[in-house]
Amino acid sequence: MNTIEVYESGPLKGEVFVQGSKNAALPVMTAAILIPGVTVLHNIPLITDILYMITILRSVGCVVERNGDSLYIDACHVNTSQIPQNAAGKMRSSIIFLGAMLARMHRAGIPYPGGCVIGKRPFDFHVDAMERMGAVVAAKEKMLTANVRNLHGADITLRFPSVGATESIILAAVLADGRTRVFNAAREPEIQELCGFLNAAGAKISGAGGSELLIDGVSSLKPVEYRIRPDRIVAGTYAIAVAATRGNAHILNTPKEEMGALTDVLCKMGCEIKEEGRGIFVDGRNASAPCGYVRTGVYPEFPTDLQSPLLTMLCVQEGNSIIEETVFEGRFRTAFELEKLGADICVKDRRAYITGRCRLHGADVCAPELRGGAALVIAGLLASGKTIVHDAWFIDRGYADICGDLERLGAKMTRNRGQWEEDLSLAIRN
Ligand code: UD1
Repeated sequence: MNTIEVYESGPLKGEVFVQGSKNAALPVMTAAILIPGVTVLHNIPLITDILYMITILRSVGCVVERNGDSLYIDACHVNTSQIPQNAAGKMRSSIIFLGAMLARMHRAGIPYPGGCVIGKRPFDFHVDAMERMGAVVAAKEKMLTANVRNLHGADITLRFPSVGATESIILAAVLADGRTRVFNAAREPEIQELCGFLNAAGAKISGAGGSELLIDGVSSLKPVEYRIRPDRIVAGTYAIAVAATRGNAHILNTPKEEMGALTDVLCKMGCEIKEEGRGIFVDGRNASAPCGYVRTGVYPEFPTDLQSPLLTMLCVQEGNSIIEETVFEGRFRTAFELEKLGADICVKDRRAYITGRCRLHGADVCAPELRGGAALVIAGLLASGKTIVHDAWFIDRGYADICGDLERLGAKMTRNRGQWEEDLSLAIRN
């Protein structure tokens, strides 16, 4: 049993604080294995993906201590290049150990990665890039093995600006011989974070945030203390929840400069969004205009990770709308769950056609993946009566306390966990 019971809640009001970024923290934690010393990271969110990452780091020989939202990663004695199946199979991020392990150990054994089921999510870009840098990679029985005498710099052009593949290449290239150039690199803020961290540790990377990266290999990296940026996707989820309920709230610790695509869409629907210090004020009381067409894309376009929460909002919004998903082909499974609540959505290929002004009603639904789960929680706030979101453990992968955060804004909900999930939740907090 792992459910969230959500009740129709009316307009959300008040203030909520945004956690540190999952997708920024995970690659920076991976990068810590390149540094023989103690890396100190602050603003690490207490979520299950981070717990799995700590498990991986410990299993390869790192000593990891946690104090509140700070992590101390001692990577002096990395003693194996083999990533354990139990943790790797649970998260997509484990694939970026391919580049990091080749850099640190000259070999790697990586079980096929897990994570949310949102399309094919292959790893051919990662493998091709490592081969271009001199590694020999083989795939057998759901395991990637790789070895290399010395990684060398290379010119690598990505067919798609994959976030994970760009991270893998950066992790491999920082300690490689010579210069690596990455063309069509991902431009997401999480790439800037990884490069900012590595440069602070002595790496030579330029071009982060653009589509061409230049990485000059250095002989070693030194330990640093670093603060992880706030989570733009969690901030965006809460902004949509406030707007969809026609509420008004302060969302504190928000990386507003990373959220232009979302705030443009919300403003088009009539929301008022004001910058306030290190946060934003979202006023959805007059958000009555139709949205029309939204297309997801790579940064700085509308993030695929906010597609499902927006889909929920558009079900109750004025007018009909279309969302086109260009990043992950399998990311409309939330639509079928929303239909159980009375939504009127027609999915054809990569497009969802949404009939607005729907009156949603409570029902039992299943979180199909992390962001889809959060979208169903928002749907529960809008639906009459009680909605039960099953498989809520998906949501714990990325949201430290979605119930507590939304309750602070006036939402009515109850979290139910089974014993092992209680144990896991306790392990995260201790
Ligand atoms: C990361 C994020 C995820 C986000 C996504 C897109 C993390 C932990 N996860 O996922 O939240 O939704 O970026 O912003 O940071 N592809 C290939 N071959 C490859 C790699 C990717 O074809 O080797 C394709 C994928 O199938 C997908 C597209 O590239 O269609 C984008 O994937 P990618 O950017 O790699 O996403 P992730 O890094 O897995």
